Amino acid sequence: MTSRHLLFTALLVTLGAWASPGLAAAQDADEAAERSRFAGRTVVVTGANRGLGLEFARQYAAAGARVVGTARDPEAATDLAATGARVLRLDVTDDDSVAAFADALGDEPVHLLINNAGTSGRGFSDATSRAELARRVLEVNTFGPMRVTEALLPNLVAARGACVVNVSSRLGSIADNTSGGYAGYRESKAALNMYSRCLAADHRDEGVVAISVSPGWVRTDMGGPDAPLSPEESIGGLRAVIEGLTPEDSGKFLNHDGAELDW
Ligand SMILES: NC(=O)c1ccc[n+]([C@@H]2O[C@H](COP(=O)([O-])OP(=O)(O)OC[C@H]3O[C@@H](n4cnc5c(N)ncnc54)[C@H](OP(=O)(O)O)[C@@H]3O)[C@@H](O)[C@H]2O)c1
Repeated sequence: MTSRHLLFTALLVTLGAWASPGLAAAQDADEAAERSRFAGRTVVVTGANRGLGLEFARQYAAAGARVVGTARDPEAATDLAATGARVLRLDVTDDDSVAAFADALGDEPVHLLINNAGTSGRGFSDATSRAELARRVLEVNTFGPMRVTEALLPNLVAARGACVVNVSSRLGSIADNTSGGYAGYRESKAALNMYSRCLAADHRDEGVVAISVSPGWVRTDMGGPDAPLSPEESIGGLRAVIEGLTPEDSGKFLNHDGAELDW
């Protein structure tokens, strides 16, 4: 192409965008849709102020989704706000907080809910028994996703074909537990896995696809500096898994590389 041709083409493109901003917006939307099936759709990520939740928010926002990221302290969630996500307050252990969060969303359809907020239980070292430790971890890791999902069910059903992704862990696999340890955490994720199965079966007719996922061992505050995976790698893998979900996948326990995991 000669330089005159190039100049002419650039002029036409510029004039086209100027004369038809609607066309330019439609092209932007098409390009975003190529990046993710959730482009232009609402994606809710809990515990999105740091770690894996922040990376989910970052990647979905970059892919053109309308991201709602939650934080217990929204004013301090500056990294999350910088992704362009809408930041809402949510403590998954608090019924009033969950109700206020659902109110803030109103009747907005939610196409993807990522129940990511979680705790290892390390912060509960003052627990006086194993049962108390497990109860406190289950409040966050098991009853948290349950509270949030039940509160948002009308929004999920309204989206027609919504996905619920419960961020579990390989440590929640009963079959895989030959080494013990991680008191409370293992039980919380095993119970979360059962909740994913219940959701999948109970809301199949309403088009809800529900899965549990394992992000792998990742370098976050929870995973520590020695973990082999970066948040970018783990969430990049999980996003590919989520992009490809079909109703037939509902009720599965999937690894960040797409492999099916033993319960
Ligand atoms: N990192 C790993 O290697 C790994 C491996 C397997 C599974 N996972 C799972 O992946 C998820 C994210 O882990 P992560 O590594 O990103 O952990 P993280 O760095 O410790 O971040 C945990 C997030 O959960 C939030 N959170 C904790 N309790 C909450 C509550 N009651 N209400 C609302 N939010 C709460 C935290 O908010 P605050 O900042 O307010 O505390 C924070 O945003 C968890 O479910 C975890 O079990 C992680």
